[in-house]
Amino acid sequence: MIDQRRLPREQVFVTCGTYQEMADAITTMVIRGAPAIGVAAAMGVALGIQQGADFDTVCSTLAATRPTAVNLFWAIDRMKTLRATLNGASRETIVLRMIEESQQIRLEDIAICKAIGKHGASLVPDGRTVLTHCNAGALATAGYGTALGVIRAAVEAGKKIDVFADETRPFLQGARLTAWELQQDHIPTTLITDNMAGHFLRSGRIGCVVVGADRIAANGDVANKIGTYSVAVLAKENGVPFYVAAPVSTFDLTLESGDQIPIEQRAASEVTEMFGVPVAPENIAVQNPAFDITPSRYVTAIICEHGVARAPFKQSLGALAGGAKKVNA
Ligand code: MRU
Repeated sequence: MIDQRRLPREQVFVTCGTYQEMADAITTMVIRGAPAIGVAAAMGVALGIQQGADFDTVCSTLAATRPTAVNLFWAIDRMKTLRATLNGASRETIVLRMIEESQQIRLEDIAICKAIGKHGASLVPDGRTVLTHCNAGALATAGYGTALGVIRAAVEAGKKIDVFADETRPFLQGARLTAWELQQDHIPTTLITDNMAGHFLRSGRIGCVVVGADRIAANGDVANKIGTYSVAVLAKENGVPFYVAAPVSTFDLTLESGDQIPIEQRAASEVTEMFGVPVAPENIAVQNPAFDITPSRYVTAIICEHGVARAPFKQSLGALAGGAKKVNA
């Protein structure tokens, strides 16, 4: 995997040979983004099986890496379900099947992102600017992206759009990753700091906002990168549609509302330092929640691989998650 901490300055690839290395890569954000950490966790489980490690320890180690994105737990559960069907099989067969399953999850994720793009492209107004927050692109998935998948599909459909990317303090996923990804694809992109979003939403320039998600509760509340909530409120205030693009594996319909979603707290140094250089006085108190909850009343629609859900989300999300046909890799 590409080491996302070092982008855009250098493209360095990291190889994980053990489940412990995979868990470390997820915790330290070598790889990040909800669907991508799901794929990584599945591959971590396969590595653990290959190492002959205790299965429960492998699963609990990977599950303890990051708490908010539900795709991580979804992927581990899928690997557990397969493992349970292989009792009595030879060690060779178990290793092979677990590796195959993790690769299948990876391939499915690319197909799912393409399907999200197809459903979302028609919602993007032609000739306008799309605002996005954080990175919900190819880097955050197995490829193509969710929010950036919608943008890519709109461009592929011939729409003349450009993108405003919020820099996304404190980890700078927007500046370092989204700006880099879209530039590679020659999609016209303008980088803004997070506190400029309200100004541009009010200006009439932004045609819609498209973001990804880390977990979506049954009532349509959305956990996504810190700062998403402010963008959603400002979008509604200014009459700009706010779209969330995410696979069904990001839905957590066991949770009634976003209040039940665990929010990861990260190190104070992410706020007090930039690339190792202090930008705040020593010993200042710091809060660093990595995600926030956007209540569903601010969400115009949720785009998944099976279609587009609108309020009331309790019904529409349930129907899309349960009744829809499978997207094949
Ligand atoms: O902390 P990160 O970088 O893993 O957070 C990523 C996000 O919040 C993304 O918007 C989300 O995971 C969707 S990625 C398709």
